Amino acid sequence: MKVTVVGAGAVGASCAEYIAIKNFASEVVLLDIKEGYAEGKAMDLMQTASLNGFDTKLTGSTSDYSKTANSDIAVITSGIPRKPGMTREELIGINAGIVKSVATSLVEHSPNVILIVVSNPMDTMTYLTHKVTGLPKHRIIGMGGALDSARFKYRLAQALEAPISDVDGMVIGGHSDKGMVPLTRLATRNSVPVSEFISEERLNQVKEDTKVGGATLTKLLGTSAWYAPGAAVSGLVQAIACDQKKIYPCSTLLDGEYGLNDLCIGVPVVLGRNGIEKIVEIDLSEAEKTHLKESAEGVQKTNGLLEI
Ligand code: LAC
Repeated sequence: MKVTVVGAGAVGASCAEYIAIKNFASEVVLLDIKEGYAEGKAMDLMQTASLNGFDTKLTGSTSDYSKTANSDIAVITSGIPRKPGMTREELIGINAGIVKSVATSLVEHSPNVILIVVSNPMDTMTYLTHKVTGLPKHRIIGMGGALDSARFKYRLAQALEAPISDVDGMVIGGHSDKGMVPLTRLATRNSVPVSEFISEERLNQVKEDTKVGGATLTKLLGTSAWYAPGAAVSGLVQAIACDQKKIYPCSTLLDGEYGLNDLCIGVPVVLGRNGIEKIVEIDLSEAEKTHLKESAEGVQKTNGLLEI
């Protein structure tokens, strides 16, 4: 199993690290445009192998896509991250050009690759990747919902004063402050609806804190987060590599599902060796349907800024 991670910045490097530590891939190639940077990160990570007990072989490359040839899975993290006060949508101008060229080069060297898009604005970058590569839709996956759901579970566990392992919950919709739809109605603490334990007001606070999860960290760190994004990507990569058939909310091209068409947005999917093996359509309440529709309108608006 060969995995390429493009972009050796904080998110790409932490993603490569988690993949290596989980020890399911034989090879990870880290690629960056900054001379020597990916090579350095890969070497540093390889020197943790005997300490952390993994056999994954990590190598780095400066812009040489021939090193990524025949990758089974490739992760696109390239582009600029947001700074405090910026929205993910504001990154479109610079990141669209970068994602376009990265996706094209990856597919050129790995025609059977499954692509995972992380660069922001993620839903729009996932849509752009479809347009420029023409890959079948099950082989292009946008990573947002897995991260947003992890942040949701963190906030839920805090509110419930319960261990995170007892908490389950999912965020669908666009990966943006306004577009996320945390499904509080379906969230549970060990199979019991969370509304049995906390007030509606507290639950609404959890929802709001989840939606600005990335912005809160950007303000604290001065740039966007990397540990949880890296861990979320590694979860998707593992689900595919190990054919786990796990359900994660991911951004996928919709063709009538949830009443939406011709856009990529976060909905629950089954991930296995073929990528997105199934889109899971759950019964949403009227309020949730409205939120998802509004979220889709936001994504469509950003998609409209693309010059394809
Ligand atoms: C975040 C970025 C990765 O939410 O979108 O932290």
